[in-house]
Amino acid sequence: MTATISSIAHHFPEDVYDNKYFEKFLDTNDEWITTRTGIKERRFAKNGLGTSDLIIPAALECIEKRGIDAQEIDCIIVATVTPDYMFPSTAALVQHKLGIKDCWGYDISAACSGFLFALNTAVKMVESGAAKKLLLCGADKMSSIMNMEDRSHAILFGDGAGVCLIEKSEDESLGLRDSILRIDGAGGNHLMQKSGGSVSPATAESVAGAEHFIYQEGQPVFKAAVKGMADVSEELMIKNDLSSDDIAWLVPHQANLRIIDACANRMGLDKEKVMINIHKYGNTTAATIPSCLSEWHEAGKLKKGDNLILSSFGAGFTWGAIWLKWSMD
Ligand code: ACO
Repeated sequence: MTATISSIAHHFPEDVYDNKYFEKFLDTNDEWITTRTGIKERRFAKNGLGTSDLIIPAALECIEKRGIDAQEIDCIIVATVTPDYMFPSTAALVQHKLGIKDCWGYDISAACSGFLFALNTAVKMVESGAAKKLLLCGADKMSSIMNMEDRSHAILFGDGAGVCLIEKSEDESLGLRDSILRIDGAGGNHLMQKSGGSVSPATAESVAGAEHFIYQEGQPVFKAAVKGMADVSEELMIKNDLSSDDIAWLVPHQANLRIIDACANRMGLDKEKVMINIHKYGNTTAATIPSCLSEWHEAGKLKKGDNLILSSFGAGFTWGAIWLKWSMD
């Protein structure tokens, strides 16, 4: 018995901010942002909304597409670094907003690798019988932790959500075939939220010092991301005897087009086989990979049995690659 994705949907806020928007208040420009990152625009959710509000429209669409009653969902996992609150969990808020009665679940924190780590967990949960219909959400409202006065990261991120259902499949050849997932806290200080946790609870001073926003040292993160994503993707191919011809799509985390290109080059993949939506949404952290899958599925570009390599790198450091055989028509 195996567990696979049986339905998928995504949601992005309607308010679009192009690169020129930042030129009004930051020393930056469209040309720099486009050539250094590949980003042209991103979406920001309105103030007062939380990550659960990004998840709900995608969750409702995902449930409707599958044609089930929301009450059939017995577990919810949310991958996010921007939970609505430190606690309660965003999973509990999603359960409540969907009105599901008999359900359990929790949040997973692995930054940009959140969806990959959560997918691995979700598949094991369904395969073991611990859950039957698991709602897996990758979502972040990055605008809630961005410092709009800091050009080094304000231009990078966006808000969004990708949601899928994980269920048992009788076809053993589909679904998650193999994964290589890694963490290394030695890189933690290069990309973090310095205050608001137990080491440095929020104070008037920490807020004045902008320590509740993203802190990122771009260069060391860039170098580690290029190496980390390419290493595990190549290792996964060698381990499973997969050639570039065998792979239908690389589904990379969308942090920077140059990181994506480096990963694809190492895997020997043409650009036509790489899912890219960073130009439209920026880096939406845990939402990048499920939203790519959802957009490509919606556009009819995915075939049942396609070999996909999902690859990510994020704060922690966290990184990994998953070999997935696509499971939907
Ligand atoms: N506009 C104009 N100039 C800028 C901007 C900007 N928005 N940001 C930085 N610069 C300047 C710098 O000040 C620097 O100027 P200097 O040469 O006069 O000193 C110059 O541009 C080059 O800066 P770098 O930081 O070296 O630029 P780089 O090419 O590395 O691009 C970037 C920066 C885009 C942040 C890149 O390093 C990157 O993508 N890093 C990885 C991000 C990532 O993968 N994060 C992980 C996932 S996120 C998560 O897990 C939550």
